Amino acid sequence: MIELRDVAKRFGEQVVLDGVDFTVADGETVALLGPSGTGKSVLLKHIIGLIKPDRGSVIVDGLDVPRLRRNELRQLRYRIGYVFQNGALFDSMNVFENVRLGISDTDKFDDLAYSRDAVTRCIRLVNLAPETIEKYPAELSGGMRKRVGIARAIVGEPDYLLYDEPTSGLDPVNADIIDDLVKQLDKELGVTSVMVTHDVRGAFRVADRLALLSEGKIVMQGTQQEFLASDSPKVREFLERDFQNATLPEA
Ligand SMILES: Nc1ncnc2c1ncn2[C@@H]1O[C@H](COP(=O)(O)OP(=O)(O)OP(=O)(O)O)[C@@H](O)[C@H]1O
Ligand SMILES: [Mg+2]
Repeated sequence: MIELRDVAKRFGEQVVLDGVDFTVADGETVALLGPSGTGKSVLLKHIIGLIKPDRGSVIVDGLDVPRLRRNELRQLRYRIGYVFQNGALFDSMNVFENVRLGISDTDKFDDLAYSRDAVTRCIRLVNLAPETIEKYPAELSGGMRKRVGIARAIVGEPDYLLYDEPTSGLDPVNADIIDDLVKQLDKELGVTSVMVTHDVRGAFRVADRLALLSEGKIVMQGTQQEFLASDSPKVREFLERDFQNATLPEA
């Protein structure tokens, strides 16, 4: 379980999070929505302890993340797969080496046969051809790089998966493929996950619940039906902007 309570974070004069309450139950997939620059990535980084809150608590799996010692934090991070917004692949390493970096157990990492098997299995899970493992990031399309980033996040068999905009910059067909993949992985691996996105349609397809971050607060957290039925102006504005060229599904 992931639980943020009254989390506040500012950078200099800029207040980014201003009392955020956010929870993800075990096995659940929550989509974190919000306009660009509202602090979605900052919120996600609190969960893995990359950023510490000025106020409030961040609890993951019963652990008080900002208060963990270095070693305890490392142990926790081994159990969390993080799909970075920009993919964060190393250009000088091929796909096999990039994905292998996600194997957190040093004995398993050093075992080349194990690594080969695990990387190949994850490459297959993310729907990439087996020969992709010999390629370098520069030889891949944007969508393929995103999938390699996901493979690296799952190869360590995490209990938690945090996706930072896994579909941004992709065309609708490839975005759907990634969304389906997130859903499939959550089902097959039974993980607890947060998917940051500003694509409402994708969020509706994938998530059990949604949360909308706006002006430093979670304006609403609930199911698709609850979002569609909401009369909060911020929720309406966000939904209608995304669905302006399509019909809003019925609540
Ligand atoms: N380490 C940092 N130091 C200073 N300011 C930061 C830092 N990280 C984020 N910010 C600021 O916090 C705000 C929120 O950033 P964040 O990256 O979380 O936005 P976002 O919601 O993820 O946006 P996007 O959808 O564009 O990715 C931005 O104004 C950003 O400049
Ligand atoms: Mg971001």
